[in-house]
Amino acid sequence: MGRHAAPPVSSPDEQTIRHWLTFERYYDAAVAGQERQLQDAAAVAVADHVLDVGCGCGQTTRTAAASAPAGSAVGVDLVEALVQRAKSRAAEAGLVNAAFHVADAARHPFAPASFDVILSRHGAQFFADPVAAFKRLREALRPGGRLVMVAWAAADRNEWLQLIGNAVCPGSALPDPVGDPGPFAFADPRRPRHALTQAGLVDIDTVGLQEPVWLGQDAPDAFGFVAGLAFVRGLLATCAAAESAAAEDRLRAALAAAESPEGVRLGATAWLITAHRT
Ligand SMILES: C[S@@+](CC[C@H](N)C(=O)[O-])C[C@H]1O[C@@H](n2cnc3c(N)ncnc32)[C@H](O)[C@@H]1O
Repeated sequence: MGRHAAPPVSSPDEQTIRHWLTFERYYDAAVAGQERQLQDAAAVAVADHVLDVGCGCGQTTRTAAASAPAGSAVGVDLVEALVQRAKSRAAEAGLVNAAFHVADAARHPFAPASFDVILSRHGAQFFADPVAAFKRLREALRPGGRLVMVAWAAADRNEWLQLIGNAVCPGSALPDPVGDPGPFAFADPRRPRHALTQAGLVDIDTVGLQEPVWLGQDAPDAFGFVAGLAFVRGLLATCAAAESAAAEDRLRAALAAAESPEGVRLGATAWLITAHRT
């Protein structure tokens, strides 16, 4: 994996990377239900070789590596600092069959037919050209191999986004445009289905996962996490109504109203997308 292709189209900004590193545990806890469903659907076998696209701090890669003690799991990400964190976590967990590399998964020349499973938890939506990227990933899958991804559904199916967005900027359009590269690129499940079909993958399935997100143990804890989310920072920067002290008060109040004995948990929907190579 030493050589890799041309620079990525867009990497996350520094503030977003710092937030991911600081709140790694919160990001993992937020989507714990989705992670479970992703791994269940992937059913990584003991000798499988797995690629995790956009691995971030590496939780999905680590779980796959633990399921494949006679195989391997490789996580790739654009961001060096996240890859370094992922390496440390895997070393702490003693996962000698997990490896991590800085690479653009859309362009990297992976060895043909080298993976049984390709996973992505909220990573593949960032591809600038999903058809081209999935074509490459298809080549990296062995015949019969599978690709399993999780991607956000639209904001109107995500209570957590609506509650936070309306608190920060009442009446705002949420949050990134559906379809553009970013968290909501696959919000309309016809888009990934189309891209995967064009890339030559088959047996494509999209299932709505309704797994609440956990944002913190109580409202102040959740506020610490949520206030730094990229889309919240974006709203604060662009929304005329988001005079920051008032927006923060509204956000604190909205999170307090969502507190429960299990913490701040809000409704969320993501697509579980599966596809196969013939
Ligand atoms: C929303 S984060 C998800 C991280 C991780 N999968 C998780 O669920 O915690 C998306 C990640 O995908 C990475 N990413 C985006 N485009 C990528 C690409 N073309 N190749 C590799 N990584 C990419 C970003 O750097 C970022 O770390």
